[in-house]
Parts: sequence; C-alpha cells; structure tokens
Amino acid sequence: AADLESKLPLKGKKILITAGPTYEAIDPVRFIGNHSTGKMGYDIAQSAANLGASVILVSGPSHQKIENSLVQIVPVVSAQEMYDACHTYFSDVDVVIAAAAVADYKPKNSASHKIKKEVDEFVLELEKTKDILSSLGEMKEKQFLIGFALETENEIENAKLKIQKKNLDLIVLNSLQDEGAGFGKPTNKVTFIDRDFKVEPMELKSKEAVADDIVNKVIAHFYE
Ligand code: CTP
Ligand code: CA
Repeated sequence: AADLESKLPLKGKKILITAGPTYEAIDPVRFIGNHSTGKMGYDIAQSAANLGASVILVSGPSHQKIENSLVQIVPVVSAQEMYDACHTYFSDVDVVIAAAAVADYKPKNSASHKIKKEVDEFVLELEKTKDILSSLGEMKEKQFLIGFALETENEIENAKLKIQKKNLDLIVLNSLQDEGAGFGKPTNKVTFIDRDFKVEPMELKSKEAVADDIVNKVIAHFYE
C-alpha cells in the first residue's frame, strides 16, 4: 500500500484547473480574445492525473486534447462562464490551479445582431470581468490555491502583491524576459513564490516539465 501511495501520491485528491483564453462577445460573430493556447493548463491536468488526482479542467476555447478517465473537461467560452463553472466545483476540491488567461475586460454591451460598418470611428465600451481567482481566495477554506502571474515590470514585487490580494498559497510567475518562454512557445521560464514570499527561480524548460514542477508543489503541500 505504501508503494502504491508513492506511485500515485495524488490519488483521491480533487484538483480544479482553469486553462486557455476566454472569448468576450462583441456581437454574434466577433469577440475579444488572447493568444493563450491552453497548453500549460492541459499539461498540468495530464501531470496531476498521471499521479492519481481527479481533475476538473475548466477550459476556455482551445485545440488541446486530453484523453484520461481522471480528467473531466468543462468547456466554457467567456470569463463569466468560467467564473460560474469554478464556483460550481470549488467547494468539492482540494486544490485550484488557475492557469487560464482570463480576459480582464469585456464589451459592456454585446450586440444581438452583427454590427454593420456604418460609422467611420467605432468606440467599444468595455467593463471589467470578475476576478475568478480573487473570488475563490475570499471563499477559501481547506483549498490550496495556486495562481499564475504575467508581469513585464517589477515582476517579483507585483507577483507578491497578487499573492496577498488574491489570498494565494503559491504563485507561478511567468517570465517573458526569456525569448523561449510564453504564449505559443513550447517552453516556459517560471519563478515560484509562496505565501511566505520565498522566491524560487526555475530553469527554462518544456511546459510539460514546468507542469511536473507545479504538481510537485501540490504533492509537497500534502506530504510535507
Ligand atoms: N485571473 C482570474 N480571473 C480574472 C483574471 C485573472 O482568475 N478575471 C487569474 C489568472 O488565471 C491568473 C491570475 O489571476 O492565475 C493572475 O492573472 P494576471 O493577468 O497575471 O493578473 P490580474 O489579476 O488580471 O492583473 P493584471 O492583468 O492587471 O496584472
Ligand atoms: Ca489580467
């Protein structure tokens, strides 16, 4: 039994993962989106399931595929749908890993008909979306909460502020400094910062290997 536990250290644990971009409708045929492919979140889901975790993968629009009986995919489109799905599953999970690139703003009004090119200058009014991770941080009881941060200046300081603001246990800071890292690239360079502000810079590595590192942090939480 001890042997099995060491091979499947996350057996019986439930992990909620968000992945991919969100699309915010402008009208029935147009949206505001971003270049997230979802790969990071799907790799984390695969890695966690390989170690026995039951995964709920709330995914924005993505071409990534995953076939694993331990991974339940919940497809969503908008930030509001992702928010609703996360709130549906939150109370039942042990860990949340928020890898999605959620839109920060959405059109204030989404037109019900395709907008015609009638005017020369078109102003689109935007309003903030709900911060999914912050809302989960406020409700947090037993859950271990991992967020991501994408910063281009004062990286470490801003990431620390996000830990506090969102009540996180760990943040994965994505470095765009490095040319091999980021959207659409197979590699990532991340720095882990925990809630005691311990800073741990990692090497540039494949997104699969970064996913394994993140899942190892989850294991350490349960076993250390
Ligand atoms: N996030 C979220 N809901 C949002 C926006 C972000 O859950 N509406 C999550 C992301 O999934 C990520 C973390 O919050 O895990 C940080 O996202 P990031 O874009 O770096 O930070 P923001 O809080 O959106 O702040 P800003 O973009 O202004 O830096
Ligand atoms: Ca943001």
